[in-house]
Amino acid sequence: MVAALSALLILHGYCFARRDRDFSFMHQATRAPMVSYYDYIIVGGGTAGCALAATLSQSSSVLLERGGSPFGNPNTTNLSAFGAALSDLSRKSPSQRFVSEDGVINARARVLGGGSALNAGFSSRAGSEFIANAGWEAKLVNESYRWVERMVVFHPPLRQCPQLLMLSGLGPEKHLEAHNISVVLDLPLVGQRMSDNPMNAVFVPSPRPVEVSLIQVVGITHNRIYIEGASGENFARETKRTRDFGMFSPKIGHLSTSPPKQRTKEALNRAKEAMRFLPRSAFLGGFILEKIMGPLSSGHLELRSTNSNHNPAVTFNYFQDPGDLEKCVEGIKIIEKVIESRSFSRFRYNHLPITTLLNMTANSPVNLLPKHANASRSFEQFCRDTVTTIWHYHGGCQVDKVVDHDYKVIGVDSLQVIDGSTFDYSLGTNPQATVMMLGSYMGVKMLHERSANMIPDSN
Ligand SMILES: *[C@@H]1O[C@H](CO)[C@@H](O)[C@H](O)[C@H]1NC(C)=O
Ligand SMILES: *[C@@H]1O[C@H](CO)[C@@H](O)[C@H](O)[C@H]1NC(C)=O
Ligand SMILES: *[C@@H]1O[C@H](CO)[C@@H](O)[C@H](O)[C@H]1NC(C)=O
Ligand SMILES: *[C@@H]1O[C@H](CO)[C@@H](O)[C@H](O)[C@H]1NC(C)=O
Ligand SMILES: *[C@@H]1O[C@H](CO)[C@@H](O)[C@H](O)[C@H]1NC(C)=O
Ligand SMILES: *[C@@H]1O[C@H](CO)[C@@H](O)[C@H](O)[C@H]1NC(C)=O
Repeated sequence: MVAALSALLILHGYCFARRDRDFSFMHQATRAPMVSYYDYIIVGGGTAGCALAATLSQSSSVLLERGGSPFGNPNTTNLSAFGAALSDLSRKSPSQRFVSEDGVINARARVLGGGSALNAGFSSRAGSEFIANAGWEAKLVNESYRWVERMVVFHPPLRQCPQLLMLSGLGPEKHLEAHNISVVLDLPLVGQRMSDNPMNAVFVPSPRPVEVSLIQVVGITHNRIYIEGASGENFARETKRTRDFGMFSPKIGHLSTSPPKQRTKEALNRAKEAMRFLPRSAFLGGFILEKIMGPLSSGHLELRSTNSNHNPAVTFNYFQDPGDLEKCVEGIKIIEKVIESRSFSRFRYNHLPITTLLNMTANSPVNLLPKHANASRSFEQFCRDTVTTIWHYHGGCQVDKVVDHDYKVIGVDSLQVIDGSTFDYSLGTNPQATVMMLGSYMGVKMLHERSANMIPDSN
């Protein structure tokens, strides 16, 4: 893993959440001494890694391997630039696009702060059921949440654990051998049971401007279907430079008009260009989306190469389980009811029935999947054809499968995995606060363990 270090943070009894904008704790890995010693080495400065580093560094020395720096880049420090950060495909971008084998365009973070640096600003705590299932201590969970909520966060997912473990020789033996990686330990479940919460959105053009809202209102049904809205400025603002569909724009990959085989980078660029010529009314409105928590369908991750910067091949098998599809259909039915409600009537065109709205969305390049003519008539087909991500993918290094209840890699000394890849399912609205909480929670536990193991009078 050391070979993967390109940039680091060195923290000695020091919390990164300083207010004075002194970033002297950040260093280039190429300038690091040949040999140095730390109490803890954290690979990955993502949501959990930062919180873990901040907690551990209160009383021990910590080396945190990070991605690029988020400081001074308004795309990561400014919430309304959320879409810009995700659509930045340059080498210095805080996000790295990948397309899952399913054909859904996705992203992984490669910046200090991880996915929290690319977050749309939604934070919520996990419910007591999730906490009990995870086997966490409720009191320390509460304290850790309070810590997270107080922290000055630079604004996750570094869910790249399965890839890093495999590259380090920990994973399914045959797969590692196929890549000529020396097997340290055969861990067949690394990279298995990866899931992504499927999201489907319906674009609703509005005859009048609508309030700016980047997913701030959520309705949760008894069946755990999440209905959320996103509307306003991102879509309505008409300046020469910013005519787009915000987080659903083709620049992010969430909208295409070309047939599957022609959905290249150039095709996406043409779609982006085409938006400049659309009438202003096409940008007025918003999206109502539905997403499912804890999908039953799951997939897996495989290496494509031994370069840690390269995207691995990830398959999520969206809607493979009929239960997921049923929930999606239920969600679309709720969206239909919302759109047809009286309070919504001022914000939609009456001459555009739901079938037409679904058709508009199904005809937009939201993903790279083939589209079927019946997508606007069959909610099932609509769900399948227009599935996208909300970037809450998880799994691949789960508790009891790859790590134990202390998040220690089973069969390996002194190696822990603390991030969203250990989750069986992703939390409803947004897992960010819980992943951060877990980092701090585990930091506190590790410090306790360390002081309990320290031999008095030595050092
Ligand atoms: C944040 O982004 C918005 C929209 O892109 C822009 O209007 C605003 O000036 C930015 N604020 C800062 C502090 O950069
Ligand atoms: C912000 O993102 C846009 C693309 O979405 C890119 O053109 C721009 O260079 C980025 N800004 C910075 C400071 O990296
Ligand atoms: C943790 O906080 C929740 C919500 O505030 C509360 O209901 C619960 O009783 C608390 N648990 C403990 C052990 O403090
Ligand atoms: C693995 O090593 C063998 C023998 O050196 C070589 O032929 C093969 O191409 C290598 N495979 C990969 C995936 O690098
Ligand atoms: C959906 O859109 C396509 C392409 O624009 C069109 O050919 C088709 O008739 C539409 N179907 C419905 C039900 O609106
Ligand atoms: C939609 O049409 C395709 C063929 O174009 C068919 O395979 C599929 O079963 C249809 N979907 C539904 C839900 O009827």
